[in-house]
Amino acid sequence: MANPEEINETLQVYAISRGISIDGTNALGFGQDGEVWRSSRKTAVKLLERERTYLNERDAYLRLRDENVRYLGIFAVPSLVDYDDEHRIVEMAIVSPPYLLDFGKAYVDRDAPYTDEQKEESLDACRELFEPNDWELIEDALLDLRLLGIEYLDIKPANIRAR
Ligand SMILES: Nc1ncnc2c1ncn2[C@@H]1O[C@H](COP(=O)(O)OP(=O)(O)OP(=O)(O)O)[C@@H](O)[C@H]1O
Ligand SMILES: [Mg+2]
Repeated sequence: MANPEEINETLQVYAISRGISIDGTNALGFGQDGEVWRSSRKTAVKLLERERTYLNERDAYLRLRDENVRYLGIFAVPSLVDYDDEHRIVEMAIVSPPYLLDFGKAYVDRDAPYTDEQKEESLDACRELFEPNDWELIEDALLDLRLLGIEYLDIKPANIRAR
């Protein structure tokens, strides 16, 4: 994990290049793969640690943008505003629940390295984390994503908020 000074420096370089400002003291959220910051153009700026997770996230949001997808059923998906390959940054709209976000662990146009059995087992475990009514909506959203070539496996309440 990069240290806070490095993160802030990267954010500031990106902000200047886009003519915006980013408050590096006021994070919108944190996770395993990166940090998300608010910008002056009211966007979420996510800085990803690793190349692979960056590419997953960028490619998923590009696909959603190309296909004009703003919602998956009831779930808002952030629209892509900008991205930066050099600094591994994805800038997107800020969404409010219900939403589905975080494509760092998604597989775009490629198979996830798991058997159907492993995926079933994992889905069963995820189901427990949600209300039964919400789960049905989530399954529909996951199917919509698969039809778009995006396999979404990071199913958890921090990433998929039904309420
Ligand atoms: N576009 C957005 N709009 C609103 N909130 C957001 C947005 N992007 C991220 N967040 C908030 O920041 C948190 C962390 O973002 P995200 O899940 O993308 O990070 P991550 O590092 O990939 O997380 P994980 O640990 O799940 O892999 C989210 O759970 C959410 O609360
Ligand atoms: Mg997350």
